[in-house]
Amino acid sequence: MNRSIIRGLGFYVPENIVTNDDLSKIIETNDEWITERTGIKERRWVGDADDSTTSMGVKAALNAISDAEIDKNDIDFIVFATLSPDYYFPGPGVSVQKELELDTIGALDVRNQCSGFVYAISVADQYIKTGMYKNILVIGSEYQSGGLDKTTRGRGVSVIFGDGAGAAIVSASNNENETGGILSTHLHSQGMHAEELALLRPSTSHWVPQILKENDPNDISYYPYMNGNFVFKHAVTRFPQVIGEALQQNGYESTDISLLIPHQANLRIAQFIQRTMKLTDDQVFNNIQKYGNTTAASIPIAMAEAKQHGRINKGDLICLAAFGSGFTWASALIKWT
Ligand code: COA
Repeated sequence: MNRSIIRGLGFYVPENIVTNDDLSKIIETNDEWITERTGIKERRWVGDADDSTTSMGVKAALNAISDAEIDKNDIDFIVFATLSPDYYFPGPGVSVQKELELDTIGALDVRNQCSGFVYAISVADQYIKTGMYKNILVIGSEYQSGGLDKTTRGRGVSVIFGDGAGAAIVSASNNENETGGILSTHLHSQGMHAEELALLRPSTSHWVPQILKENDPNDISYYPYMNGNFVFKHAVTRFPQVIGEALQQNGYESTDISLLIPHQANLRIAQFIQRTMKLTDDQVFNNIQKYGNTTAASIPIAMAEAKQHGRINKGDLICLAAFGSGFTWASALIKWT
């Protein structure tokens, strides 16, 4: 069986910085509340820039291609994770194929929200291990700000989410003497909680013509809904479970982790995981303070930034873990090559 490695990483975030103080000018909130509850100080929102989920994904992808030192035409498959596709259909994978002018390679879209990137990495890993593909472009990209309720009514959700994209090139290792790469991935879901963190409409039970016909100014079902306390409680249980599962399968202890890169959902959640798993500050990477929660983009942005900051090096044991809407949760353990 082939070994899959992460050969390159890249990210892109819009230039427009929105601080907590900026938000307090448009909704009833303040820096103290947001910082204390979430750790977020600022986030990037597309704003007036000419960006989309696809264009940000493409910019992150070009950075990952350059980091991997491959030709873009060496990519033989695309996996794109997002909850904010540019179109209801088709998904953005095919738009990336077009924008990068790649030959008619396959493009797959993953709909697993905050766990989307880890699910996407798992898909890529299987294709590489079976020998079906050699270089897979995996993207997590989100343009969420346009769809948030930016009034006081929506403040429990809108202050948390940001825009941006991250990408990885997952490749077959061509070094037979080397061990490592993606060791295992672990995927879970619990659909009974699907509506606790969801964007319910438009849907098959409520198509756009019906929404337009009703024209109800109090209808908030086309804004994301989050039962924050409920999500928090499940997240702090599932994260340690799925990290533990990855460690156990590979015969490691939490002390062996060089760097845990958790989905940047909320700094309090990351700190809770750190305490539960008795990890040191050096073992956990957080950048939610600067970017907010960028859903499927958060892990690849964090991974790319961690690598840029010298926090990921050859031989390191890197753990990715995510939890979010679905509910879905997932982890990946990687011995960096
Ligand atoms: N600014 C100021 N006040 C706010 C606010 C904001 N942005 N958002 C909510 N509030 C208010 C509420 O109206 C409420 O006021 P009340 O007590 O007068 O009714 C109060 O703050 C407490 O609200 P609550 O929702 O109970 O706060 P919380 O401590 O649970 O924190 C979250 C809210 C969303 C930060 C928290 O539940 C959380 O982080 N959950 C997990 C979310 C997450 O990680 N999601 C991503 C998963 S991928």
